[in-house]
Amino acid sequence: MGKSRANFGSRLAVVLATAGSAVGLGNVWRFPYMTGQDGGAAFILVYIVCILMLGIPGMISEFVVGRHSQRNAYRAYAKISGGKAWRYIGILGILTATIILGFYAVVAGWCLEYLYASLVGHIGGDATTVSRFFTEFINDPVKSCLWALAFILITHFIIIRGVEKGIERASKVLMPILLLLLLVLVVCSCMLPGAAKGVEFLFRPDFSKVTKDVFLDALGQAFFSLSLGTACLCTYSSYFNKDINLFRSAGHIACLDSVIAILAGLMIFPAAFSVGIQPDSGPSLIFITLPNVFQQAFAFMPELGYVIAVIFYALLVFAALTSTISMHEIGTAFFHEEMHISRHRAACILTGVCGVLAILCALSVGAWTDLQLMGKSLMDFCDMLTAQIMLPLGAFLTSILLGWFVARNVLHDEFTNGGTVNQRLFGYWLFAIRWIVPLSILLIFLHQLGVL
Ligand code: PHE
Repeated sequence: MGKSRANFGSRLAVVLATAGSAVGLGNVWRFPYMTGQDGGAAFILVYIVCILMLGIPGMISEFVVGRHSQRNAYRAYAKISGGKAWRYIGILGILTATIILGFYAVVAGWCLEYLYASLVGHIGGDATTVSRFFTEFINDPVKSCLWALAFILITHFIIIRGVEKGIERASKVLMPILLLLLLVLVVCSCMLPGAAKGVEFLFRPDFSKVTKDVFLDALGQAFFSLSLGTACLCTYSSYFNKDINLFRSAGHIACLDSVIAILAGLMIFPAAFSVGIQPDSGPSLIFITLPNVFQQAFAFMPELGYVIAVIFYALLVFAALTSTISMHEIGTAFFHEEMHISRHRAACILTGVCGVLAILCALSVGAWTDLQLMGKSLMDFCDMLTAQIMLPLGAFLTSILLGWFVARNVLHDEFTNGGTVNQRLFGYWLFAIRWIVPLSILLIFLHQLGVL
């Protein structure tokens, strides 16, 4: 089976496709709103420490599992662990990715609506009108559900075209354009009156704002943003060639991902402070701030504002798409290879499950607010459950498995590409996945539970 599987075409394509999975709404939507809720710069510092100490070693671990076995997540964990109970880490990852896809599609659907609305010129007026537009939209059960479903269907059609044609091609072109446009918007946002306060909020840490939640939030955000803990990286790396340098790829992707998140922060907060929007306004933050940026920054030339808004939402949709593709691919590869059904059928199963979940999530933040679990809307609950519990758990178990139960020579072989690269770094990585990653995750869990 291994030989007949597709491979990503070139090294660049590998990094871009995996970066395409990592870069998405997690950077542009979730990172700014978490940063806003958790007090700004101090959160970012903890976040960066999580990326460096836990994220990069964790990414390499998933890469090792995937490339070693060249199978779907379930089989990959089964193979590297010798087929014992560890394979359920793969199942956990598949489940996590499926739940994430359910609520992620809702926000991606919001982006589609904003793309459409900015195209036809529906978003406009003062800050209050812009914010009313958002509230009315999410409270409309038909619109919000349809956009979410549309997003899942687009993902579905790309998935059934296969790894090379669909995923690679889209990532190659769109990632660089996204980066460029973000830079343009950062400059615009920082030039608005009163923008300096936003920059300060992002870069001057106020440690009095560090609450108990900051650590778990930053950990969850770091993992969410890197697509870590869902077996997504493991699934993608199963398509890697044997000469890909896993350490370097993880470093590049983590770096790109963090730069984009921070740029997104620099695009949102100066503008939010400038128009007087509270930084802690939660998931709606970017949908209310951004239209204001487009209007105010380009008031001297509204046509330019129009064009930039349309391009921006289009890129946001594509960034979200390269991420939803990766979430969908995890489950599709599993059903296709394990249940021996066609890729097409496997994709249909996943699309069906995620479609239902997406509808419920969309309703839970709009027309059907009674749909709650543990005092949170279903959508927030799924977000919290996956980012704060399931992702860290997946990464924790993977590092325990590799650090303590897999033969050292297997790890060495994958990490160093058969002894040709990164020989010296191997020891550091092994130490990180044996001690630093599991202990830090454990400490953060215990801290959150109030045990520490
Ligand atoms: N990393 C993606 C983002 O930042 C989200 C994602 C999570 C993708 C888990 C795949 C798996 O938007």
